[in-house]
Amino acid sequence: MAKPKYEYRKLILWGMMGAGKTTAARFLSSKLGIAMIDLDEYLSERSGHTIQGLFSHLGEAGFRDREHLAFRDVLAQPRPLILAPGGGTPCFERNNQLIRHHDMTIYLRCRIETLVNRLKNELNSRPLLASHSEDLHQKISQLLSERTCWYEQARFIVDADDPDADDRLLSLATAFFTT
Ligand code: S3P
Repeated sequence: MAKPKYEYRKLILWGMMGAGKTTAARFLSSKLGIAMIDLDEYLSERSGHTIQGLFSHLGEAGFRDREHLAFRDVLAQPRPLILAPGGGTPCFERNNQLIRHHDMTIYLRCRIETLVNRLKNELNSRPLLASHSEDLHQKISQLLSERTCWYEQARFIVDADDPDADDRLLSLATAFFTT
């Protein structure tokens, strides 16, 4: 007999590059025994290209098309999942439209200073930041101000800088998957 769709619910972590989405997804996955997918890794594995390679071959618009298709595929998987999409994924209406009422979104909000500190040594793997080593703070502020209205559409917001962020994530995720 087919399982009801709520068995296949997805927990999706929104947030900027460097906010810790992948780390949080791994943490929740190990605590709850529910599989996790990092959307950039999924895209890279399936395309055979790095994220930088996809940006340089296809441009940002082509990357966003691939990202949308990957997000659609992952959300359609018939199993519960914890997802760490890219920082830009929630900022497109076509991606938001894929989320269903039984899915859960959490915005992992992070201070700009924390993002700058985490990202300053990882610019080569972030095509949107690669040419901004000199004005990284300004570029991140700009992206964040453009994106906050999208991120804040998440059902819950967790402050990633708070010492109890993991506890809060775990209690939200536990309630979501068990009730
Ligand atoms: C992007 C974030 C990246 C990656 C791509 C674009 C963005 O993912 O998808 O470089 O637009 O913020 P992470 O948030 O995992 O770094």
